[in-house]
Amino acid sequence: MNILVLHGPNLHLLGKRQPEIYGHQTLADINATLDRNAAASPHEITLKISQSNHEGELVSIIGDNIDWADGILINPAAYTHTSVAIRDALSTVALPVIEIHLSNIYAREEFRHHSYISAVAVGVIGGFGTHSYTLALEAMIQILQKKLEPSV
Ligand code: DQA
Repeated sequence: MNILVLHGPNLHLLGKRQPEIYGHQTLADINATLDRNAAASPHEITLKISQSNHEGELVSIIGDNIDWADGILINPAAYTHTSVAIRDALSTVALPVIEIHLSNIYAREEFRHHSYISAVAVGVIGGFGTHSYTLALEAMIQILQKKLEPSV
């Protein structure tokens, strides 16, 4: 199973960025946990992890992995609320996508309540801090194992 993991803008500053909202763990900590969980899985899982502050770069990475990835985990960060381009890229590759957020976007400012991405995702996991990523990886493995039928 090849799983593409994408982190959007400003997530490279996790640990320093508003720790009261996003916690104290760094992006390197999150990626290390993902790698550890993937390695501990009984399934053969390869993760390809990228972070970008640039919308077009995220679009390119998604498209470039159309033939490699079996599924995509993405925290689009602020682009969640603005990016038709990332949504279109995700629709184009037509792979199972899980949208991730550290915070509960519905408990925050109103402009964060709308996601352009959710409609093209099989599901959304948010509000659990860095554990959102662990839950999302577990859900993706099950989806790819066809154990979990996403409800549409
Ligand atoms: C975020 C929530 C977004 O609203 C915000 O712009 C982010 C991070 C989260 O993980 O909680 O950058 O995606």
